Amino acid sequence: MRMGEKATIPGMAATTQERPLDLERPIKEIGTDLAARMPRPRLVSTARVEQRMTELLMKDPALRAALFRFVDVRPACATPADLIRHLHEFLADAESKTAQRATGITGRPLARRPLAAVAGAGVKRMAQQFIVGEDAKDALPEITKLWRGGVETTVDLLGEATVSETEADVYMRRCEETLRALAGAATKPGQVNLSVKVSALTPLLRPTAPERGIEGARPRLEHLLRVAKEVGAHLHVDMESFDTREAITALTLDLLSQPEFADGPSAGIVLQAYLVDSPEHLDELLAWAERTPRTHPFVIRLVKGAYWDHEVVQAAQNGWAPPVFTDRRECDRNFEALSRRLIDATPTVKVAIASHNLRSISHAAAYADARGVGNDDLEFQILRGLGDDTQAAIAATGRQVRAYCPVGDLVAGMAYLVRRLLENTANDSFLAAHASGTDTAELLEAP
Ligand code: 2OP
Repeated sequence: MRMGEKATIPGMAATTQERPLDLERPIKEIGTDLAARMPRPRLVSTARVEQRMTELLMKDPALRAALFRFVDVRPACATPADLIRHLHEFLADAESKTAQRATGITGRPLARRPLAAVAGAGVKRMAQQFIVGEDAKDALPEITKLWRGGVETTVDLLGEATVSETEADVYMRRCEETLRALAGAATKPGQVNLSVKVSALTPLLRPTAPERGIEGARPRLEHLLRVAKEVGAHLHVDMESFDTREAITALTLDLLSQPEFADGPSAGIVLQAYLVDSPEHLDELLAWAERTPRTHPFVIRLVKGAYWDHEVVQAAQNGWAPPVFTDRRECDRNFEALSRRLIDATPTVKVAIASHNLRSISHAAAYADARGVGNDDLEFQILRGLGDDTQAAIAATGRQVRAYCPVGDLVAGMAYLVRRLLENTANDSFLAAHASGTDTAELLEAP
C-alpha cells in the first residue's frame, strides 16, 4: 500500500502520513474543473529581461541568497531610483561571481552585463503586476472592482522591518488611514480587511530580545485593533521569519485575550506549513481559540511560507538544522494535514487556505465538502498578480476567495517583490511547473 492510501476516521487525519482514501476522486474532479476554467498559465515573468533573471535565479543558489541579503540595504534607499541603482550594483557583483564560478573565467563581459542591466526594468514590471496602488486612495478603484466581481480583499501596506520609532508611527497611521478609507468605500459589513506585519510596527522585533519587540509593537497593534473594531474591519497579523514567530504569536494572542476585544474586531493569524513544527504551533493556536471565547471566530490563514530561502541560509550560517521542510512533497503533505485539522476545527476557527497550488486548493475544497464546511467557515486566498486566473476560477465555482493586495511604492515593496521572485523561481515551485505545461492530472497527484 502506498503512503496515504490508508482510510482514516474523519477528524483523526492529523498526521502527514494519513489521508482519507475517498478524497482523491473529488480532489481530481474539483481540480480538473478549476483548471478548465483557467486560460493556459504563463510564468510570472514573460518579458525577455525577466526571463533572463528567472533563469539565472533558478540555477544559482548563491545569487538567490544574495538577492535576499539585498533586501537589507532597502532601508537605506530613499527613492525608487536609488533602489534600482543599488540593485544594479548588487546584481552586477553577484552575477560576476556566479559567472566566475560557472566558467572559471573572470570578468567575461557578456555574462556580467545582462542581469544587472535589466533588473531595474524587471523590478518595476513586477511591482506593477503585484502591487495594487501606491496608497489606499490610489488602490481603491482596483479594490472596489474586485469587490464588485465577488472577490474579497485583504490589503497589505508594504513597508515591513521598520528601523525607527518614527517610521513605525508613520506605518501605524497609514494603516489607520487605510482602514478608514476602505470602510468609507465598503458596500457591506465585514468587507474591510487589513493584513499587518509586526516588524512594521516596531524597530525592536529581534529574536535575541523578543520581549522588547512585543512591548514595542504592543501599543501600535492595540491602537489598530481599536480602529478595526470601531470601523467593523478584520485585522490579520502576518507571520514573518521563524525567529520572530513566538513574539508575534504571543503579542497577538495576548492582545486578543483582553476583555475590550472580546466582542471585536474580527482578527486572525498565520500558520506556515513549511515549518517542521507547524503542527505543534497549530496545537497552541487551537487551544487558545478554544479557551478564549470571542464574538468573531479566530481566523487562521494557512500558507506555505514565504521566507524559505532566508530560513535555509540563516540556518546554514549558524550551523542549525533548518526549521523548514527541505523536501517540497513533505511540505505539501503537511499543508494537507494542517488543512484537514483546521477544517475540523471550524467553527471555533475560520479557515483561510492561502495557496496557488491547484492540488492544495482542491484538497482543502474536497475535504471541506466532505465535512459539510462551507463559505461561512472557509475561504481561499490568492496573492494579487500571482494567481489571478486561479482566483477567478475559484470565485466562478461559488467558493469564497480573497485577494491579498499589497499597497505601497517600489522601495517599500522590495522585500515583498524579492519573496515573490524567489518563490517563482524555486526549482520545485508549483507555479513554475504549471507554467511549463505540466498536465493537470500530474499537478493534482497526491504529494
Ligand atoms: C509576504 O509578505 C504574502 O505575507 C506574505 O510575503
